[in-house]
Amino acid sequence: MKKYYIKTFGCQMNVYDSHRIAGILDNMGMQEAAAAGQADLIIFNTCHIREKATEKLFSDLGRIHQIKQERAAAGKNTFIGVVGCVVQAEDEQIAKRAPFVDFALGPLTYHRLPKILENLFCCQGQTIIDTEFPAESKFDFLPENHSNSGCSFLAIQEGCNNFCTYCVVPYTRGIETSRPIKNVLAEARRLVNEGTLEINLLGQNVNSYHGEDEHGKERNLAYLLHRLNEIDGLQRIRYTTSYPADVTDDLIACHREIKKLMPYLHLPVQSGSDAVLKAMNRRHTAAQYLDIIARLKEANPDLGFSSDFIVGFPGETDKDFEKTLNLVDQVGFIQAFSFKYSRRPGTPAADMSGQIEEKIKKERLSILQDKLFSYQLKFNLASVGKTVPVLFETKGRHPKQLCGRTPYMQNLYAEADKNLLNKIIRVKIKNATTNALSGEIAE
Ligand code: 5AD
Ligand code: SF4
Repeated sequence: MKKYYIKTFGCQMNVYDSHRIAGILDNMGMQEAAAAGQADLIIFNTCHIREKATEKLFSDLGRIHQIKQERAAAGKNTFIGVVGCVVQAEDEQIAKRAPFVDFALGPLTYHRLPKILENLFCCQGQTIIDTEFPAESKFDFLPENHSNSGCSFLAIQEGCNNFCTYCVVPYTRGIETSRPIKNVLAEARRLVNEGTLEINLLGQNVNSYHGEDEHGKERNLAYLLHRLNEIDGLQRIRYTTSYPADVTDDLIACHREIKKLMPYLHLPVQSGSDAVLKAMNRRHTAAQYLDIIARLKEANPDLGFSSDFIVGFPGETDKDFEKTLNLVDQVGFIQAFSFKYSRRPGTPAADMSGQIEEKIKKERLSILQDKLFSYQLKFNLASVGKTVPVLFETKGRHPKQLCGRTPYMQNLYAEADKNLLNKIIRVKIKNATTNALSGEIAE
């Protein structure tokens, strides 16, 4: 029996894709290997969003090449595949810098994997590269998605039409496509029947979802959330990542009406300066963003927000940066992801004048992160003493310790028997740091 090993870089969509790729390989009679060195097939699912992520891939590939050579010396074949966004953007670089790679598939073609592998296993040849944006949807050709976890991702939308000037996603994942309602519901029901309690709907621009319903009518995310809400046994729903300008009134209302919808929303703002937002080609101002947050809060006063920020975008002045800090003070995000602007070849911002020095980017990031972390810590500390429902997802570092998530996506550690894994259990929060909580089982 052949063994496979998948290494995933980047976003939650890649985690989902890797899970689906594993499903393809399981269906082909393969088995997951515990480590790369024991695998006949090694797949890297890659991220191109920032330069660092891409460089990491090439250094990791070097190590994998060594494994391939060592196994070859022992008479064993190792096939290496690279999939995901780097392939779409840098297929020639992969062929040049890593010629030992056997196949490379863009994010929209991995359903073609079975054919490619059959060919490869019988008659290795030249590197196969497939970066087409195919007419067919990969989701229609994948084996059913299975999960033995209490918490599952479910991709409902892929690609992006927003073309923010810094971002590679519209070029790597293509334009927006939405899966039909029927297929999403079928996948959700299957996951719930297999024990999933929480579903996190995924899409690069998830709230611009526009899938067809059973009668051929286009429906939005709010409609889909109401349909998912009807699934017995499903206890928690999340969706990510949303685009502020596409937050509709009926989506806001969902946060009042749907109790299964968790009180946590990731809503990237990127910057608090209108000049920078305009240069980024974002379709919202800082004031409009704050208004959306206010309306969401009105719908559910318990909502907590998280966001993405980019510092050092071309042309960003000290004043612009201060506006970002101001916006953070106004919202008080409970979690956030912040990055130095990374110049991505082929995107409009890469050629803009006013590129910011690395030193300044570093300083701004450090100031911003200090502020963001202080709000995160404040929120976590305010949780101490509360008893909250926690979905235990993984074993902790210590024996008898489990790690789970609160409704606000906080990591929580508690001493708990492993039979509580994949269950929602009430936990009294005892301690908090910036990144995690600890507590005691309360039931
Ligand atoms: N440089 C830095 N950060 C970026 N992001 C996207 N593209 C870039 C880039 N070129 C960030 C944005 C986005 C998150 C997923 O990654 O903040 O929301
Ligand atoms: Fe990239 Fe902007 Fe689309 Fe997000 S909305 S994926 S940042 S282009």
